[in-house]
Amino acid sequence: MNRRPPLNGSFPAVRPRRLRQTPVLRGLARETDLLPRHLVLPAFVREGLSAPAPIGSMPGVVQHTLDSLRRAAAEAAEAGVSGIMLFGVPAVRDARGSGADDPDGILNVATAAVAAEVGDALVVQTDLCLDEFTDHGHCGVLAADGTVDNDATLERYVAMGLAQARAGSRVLGLSGMMDGQVAAVREALDGEGFTDTLVLGYAAKYASAFYGPFREAVDSQLQGDRRTYQLDPGNRREGVREALLDEAEGADIVMVKPAMAFLDVLREVRDAVSVPVWAYQISGEYAMIEAAAANGWIDRRAAVQESLLSIRRAGADAVLTYWATEAAGWLRAG
Ligand code: PBG
Repeated sequence: MNRRPPLNGSFPAVRPRRLRQTPVLRGLARETDLLPRHLVLPAFVREGLSAPAPIGSMPGVVQHTLDSLRRAAAEAAEAGVSGIMLFGVPAVRDARGSGADDPDGILNVATAAVAAEVGDALVVQTDLCLDEFTDHGHCGVLAADGTVDNDATLERYVAMGLAQARAGSRVLGLSGMMDGQVAAVREALDGEGFTDTLVLGYAAKYASAFYGPFREAVDSQLQGDRRTYQLDPGNRREGVREALLDEAEGADIVMVKPAMAFLDVLREVRDAVSVPVWAYQISGEYAMIEAAAANGWIDRRAAVQESLLSIRRAGADAVLTYWATEAAGWLRAG
């Protein structure tokens, strides 16, 4: 077989560089857009704080007070970001994660406060998982033998989901990786008249080392790991299977998480389902770029933008990123 490129005489017959000559021409040839509306800001709110508390492993990210959270939400909306995903850090934890479905629990109180602040300018979303609320740090409740009890956990998710919907969350982010979680929460929402509350299924969520900084952010109590419920990082087919299941159970949106180490899964899931697919650029992805930039090893802004663009290119309709507000500002400034 002739593997030489085609020539006109001694010249290349095909010149892809023609498309790259000027910024405007490159703009015409660009395949992927990154816009503020593609971004969702994850944010932490901690019960009992009197001032925002910096998170050491995530420079620039804080645990918010209710007041600072409201301001961050307003700023995100102002920058053109589409949504905010709320995580609560309670002052007290127990085995069943009672704070999760308590209407006076920090996450539910914060949800109502943010919803009142931003109205429809920002889509208010909540993490629906027990790990921040349990004293053992697992995403579900435990059986007598110490394993995570799938079906008992579904009952807790149902209670938590209803509490979040009542508090004003528009999108419930089911991140606990229990089997049947989407169907269980959807059925309960519909039964209580919350037919317009969206369910975001964290369908392909992998047991990742890159969640490290998040565990500091939520003061995680976890000993051990989540390998009996989160996916094995080696498995691509299984990620697609989970996404198809979530879609069949009625998920309005499915998630792939983490993002950058799983771009192949993201592409396959995008091709397999017909609902929107979101990706979560997680704490460790944020920390790596911030750390390299702080050392002067990479150009921070260029690296952040390239990372977000790559996630969009791989198939994400929207991206959860801790840089959402800042990146939206850059994008708006052109
Ligand atoms: C679980 C949850 C986690 C993250 C979001 N939701 C942590 C985990 O599964 O251990 C991680 C997010 C991040 O690392 O930025 N409720």
